[in-house]
Amino acid sequence: MHFKTIIEPFRIKAVEPIRFTTREQRAAALIAADYNLFKLRAEDVLLDLLTDSGTGAMSAQQWAGMMQGDESYAGARSFFKFEAAVRKVTGLRHIIPTHQGRAAERILFSTACTAGQIVPNNTHFDTTRANLEALGVRAVDLRCPEATQPSLVAPFKGNIDLAALDRCLTEHAGRVPFAMITVTNNSGGGQPVALANIREASALCKKHGVPLILDCCRFAENAWFIKQREPGQSHRTPADIAREMFSYADGCTMSAKKDGLVNMGGFLALNDDALAAKCRNNLILTEGFPTYGGLAGYDLEALAVGLKEVLDEHYLEYRVRSVAYLGDKLTAAGVPIVQPPGGHAIYIDARAMLPHVPQSEFPAWALSCALYVEGGVRSVEIGSVMFGRQPDGTEKPAAMELVRLAFPRRVYTQSHVDYLAEVLLYVHSQRDRIRGVKLVEAPPLLRHFTAKLAPAHDELLTS
Ligand code: F0G
Repeated sequence: MHFKTIIEPFRIKAVEPIRFTTREQRAAALIAADYNLFKLRAEDVLLDLLTDSGTGAMSAQQWAGMMQGDESYAGARSFFKFEAAVRKVTGLRHIIPTHQGRAAERILFSTACTAGQIVPNNTHFDTTRANLEALGVRAVDLRCPEATQPSLVAPFKGNIDLAALDRCLTEHAGRVPFAMITVTNNSGGGQPVALANIREASALCKKHGVPLILDCCRFAENAWFIKQREPGQSHRTPADIAREMFSYADGCTMSAKKDGLVNMGGFLALNDDALAAKCRNNLILTEGFPTYGGLAGYDLEALAVGLKEVLDEHYLEYRVRSVAYLGDKLTAAGVPIVQPPGGHAIYIDARAMLPHVPQSEFPAWALSCALYVEGGVRSVEIGSVMFGRQPDGTEKPAAMELVRLAFPRRVYTQSHVDYLAEVLLYVHSQRDRIRGVKLVEAPPLLRHFTAKLAPAHDELLTS
């Protein structure tokens, strides 16, 4: 086709109204929420880009599939459909359903790890890190050198640092239960990991006798980037590329709330028979019988369909392009973002945008509050509130101070993105008025979800 506009590859059959608020209402809502966007009522948000997790729209096929859910406690037909769909994508032997990604993490980690061990990853996401640290395991991030330079354009900034991985596995021989790679690298800007990087990491792990586990929440977006960017991959289907990615792994943890295109669900998949048997027993303790793992039969049906739809090339092209469309507008206007745009989100580099706010006053958190007040946009901080507190209770600034604008799948249209760009450009023009914030009260683990904050000075935005 000679037309170049990439359109949403769907029509809209059901709509959900969004509620409009005034700036005054939002300023009041922010105070009532202790300056923590997690504590807002979703109804007070106009464009909700807090997360791409579980917030997508399901297809007519998925809703139809749900009517066929088999709710038998054990051996339900829906489980076998789900199992076949996951096996087709991953090729892995044992497929264990869980209610979401962190349940898969908790089950694997509490079964396979003991205190004092070390787990390397390109970058652990918050729940992954917290689930390891809760067991006394050290979570180590081995980002490639390009990963921490937000403005640098490179094709695979999600790569794990192979030399550092080799060193880690040598230095801590016998203390690494497995290594992980997160695709795409969520905390590092939604950046993809190259097929070659996964292959080489896998070879290193084999050399050291350590299994490799993929945190594969966004495997389809990662496969699409490989198709677009990695030499020799452009002729392949995303499904074929994904299958090769998984072939280098001994297992995976999956939050199907992302690339499973469902509102709830996840799984753990493993090749090791003995480990899988132990994990299943652990699953029964808290999640449920191994053929439902905390999910309803209808959830398993929707997930089986979602895993197929997510690998559709028209869907992936639209998905990645709609994020890049916002990225292009921001870049053209000089708004500093992590380059190039990621698969599921745009990440604003708050340190570059607010050089007058010290890292100790959480510039990314302050910026996300300002975006809400000015435009009703909810984003999430990926910075020192999320990652600054160390297991020993000390504070260490995060590698980057980012505001993530995550796109729910198949939910917003191009005019929503145009509005979003307008809000971002306006806030950028007012950036000198934004002041820092301080923590008032916070729990020791995963504090960003519930912490209370307040302006570090008189107000968030000076007049
Ligand atoms: N791993 C990664 C890379 C993730 O991004 C997430 C969730 C999880 C694991 C945990 O999955 O939420 O189903 O338990 N990320 C969401 C986000 C919450 O907003 O990025 P879960």
